[in-house]
Amino acid sequence: MPNALIIGASRGIGRGLVEEFAKRGWSVVGTVRSDASAGDLKMLAKDSGGKVTLEQVDTTDAASGAALRDRLGDAQFDLILVNAGVGGPQSNPRTVTDAEFSALFITNALGPVRLAEILAKSVKPQTGVVALMTSQLGSIGGNTGGTELYRASKAALNSFTRSFAARHKDKGLTVLSLHPGWVRTDMGGPNAAIDVATSARGLADVVERAQADRGDGFFDYAGKELPW
Ligand SMILES: NC(=O)c1ccc[n+]([C@@H]2O[C@H](COP(=O)([O-])OP(=O)(O)OC[C@H]3O[C@@H](n4cnc5c(N)ncnc54)[C@H](OP(=O)(O)O)[C@@H]3O)[C@@H](O)[C@H]2O)c1
Repeated sequence: MPNALIIGASRGIGRGLVEEFAKRGWSVVGTVRSDASAGDLKMLAKDSGGKVTLEQVDTTDAASGAALRDRLGDAQFDLILVNAGVGGPQSNPRTVTDAEFSALFITNALGPVRLAEILAKSVKPQTGVVALMTSQLGSIGGNTGGTELYRASKAALNSFTRSFAARHKDKGLTVLSLHPGWVRTDMGGPNAAIDVATSARGLADVVERAQADRGDGFFDYAGKELPW
């Protein structure tokens, strides 16, 4: 049975990914930030017949990541997918405060890749996949303006992800940057184009294909390769 660790799974796309991989027969550990937001995932775990279990981590807190690594012990995953992220302020470089900018970049860029680094030994060498949830808005080539701060945070994440891939090349990991589509979640809003199940199904297909093909890249939920 393949196994996955999905980081940021209390709601939205992360929760959808836990459900989708479990449906495909994977054993899945889903993380929540705190017990206060664990309710829905706890229900999913309870109904999963042991396929889904819960863990806790705050991606902005390196000590919390190290504690998770210690609790995981010798566990080796086929997939570690860091999904957690925030939309951040709807402002621009002229109006954003230093504190807002810092919080956004720590949550969307530094936190995810630092956690991937902390957990790198928990991914199966040669066959494992590390995936970071980014956005097509993080594409520098595709930047047509708007949503400037979020775009920049995801562009920074994409750069960190490529550096992570280069640093761990000798381990034979497959490293993916994933765009989930515009999805109806708390972040995507009610008018978004697709539902969580459609996004999660597509993303799981992309991961399973990458497991077989061993190709790094920046892909959307439909498997389309996106420009960096
Ligand atoms: N929805 C879209 O249309 C869309 C489009 C492109 C990219 N994305 C990306 O897809 C990912 C998921 O988005 P979503 O729409 O599902 O968002 P969401 O509904 O707002 O859910 C965000 C998830 O991230 C978790 N999270 C946030 N900060 C965290 C932290 N510091 N530590 C641990 N967990 C944290 C949240 O946990 P809590 O419940 O504890 O807050 C929640 O589980 C994000 O990276 C987002 O940027 C989304």
